[in-house]
Amino acid sequence: MTNWTPDDPFVDPFTGSGTIPIEAALIGQNIAPGFNREFQAEEWDSIPSTVWEQALEEAEDLANYDQPLDITGSDISHQSIEIAKHNAMEAGLADLINWKQMQAKDFMPKSEKGYLIGNPPYGERLGEKETVEQIYQDLGHIMSSYPKWSVYIMTSYQDFEKQYGQKATKKRKLFNGFIQTNYYQYFGKK
Ligand SMILES: C[S@@+](CC[C@H](N)C(=O)[O-])C[C@H]1O[C@@H](n2cnc3c(N)ncnc32)[C@H](O)[C@@H]1O
Repeated sequence: MTNWTPDDPFVDPFTGSGTIPIEAALIGQNIAPGFNREFQAEEWDSIPSTVWEQALEEAEDLANYDQPLDITGSDISHQSIEIAKHNAMEAGLADLINWKQMQAKDFMPKSEKGYLIGNPPYGERLGEKETVEQIYQDLGHIMSSYPKWSVYIMTSYQDFEKQYGQKATKKRKLFNGFIQTNYYQYFGKK
């Protein structure tokens, strides 16, 4: 749910277990979802093995492993970065994503244009509200110097735009499991 194309830098500064960069790398190289896993249905007699072989071959032909990618996932937590690295390896994407332990407030874009996508903490736990407000303020402050970057943030925190310091170009309701969130989309200037 972004306008990202694989030629642009892609950053998730709240990467946790790495889901977002991993999905981006799969999209970027046009790798079919589930390509690296097995399915129970492969054992079913009603589906001849040739059907599976054909589908795999088709997916393999469509993948573009030569597409260079500039995807980074960072997180304040060392442990999350270790988990994200492990998950990327399991998905067969070990060398495709840059992982870094870093606080979001230390993020500094290296290019004029790019895409930042993240699912930051929501501040729903007791005592967390002020911490997340500071994170949103810092992020808004950094990104205000990079108007050609597009920013996409998913959070359930109601006053996100106020803390970030800018009205989103578009806002969309999304569920993260059972939690209702908003997906704030800030489109970078062309
Ligand atoms: C809602 S989780 C993100 C989940 C992630 N999308 C995934 O696939 O697992 C929020 C993440 O933000 C990280 N975080 C919290 N404060 C941070 C900060 N100040 N800078 C960077 N990351 C932070 C947490 O460690 C946590 O992994």
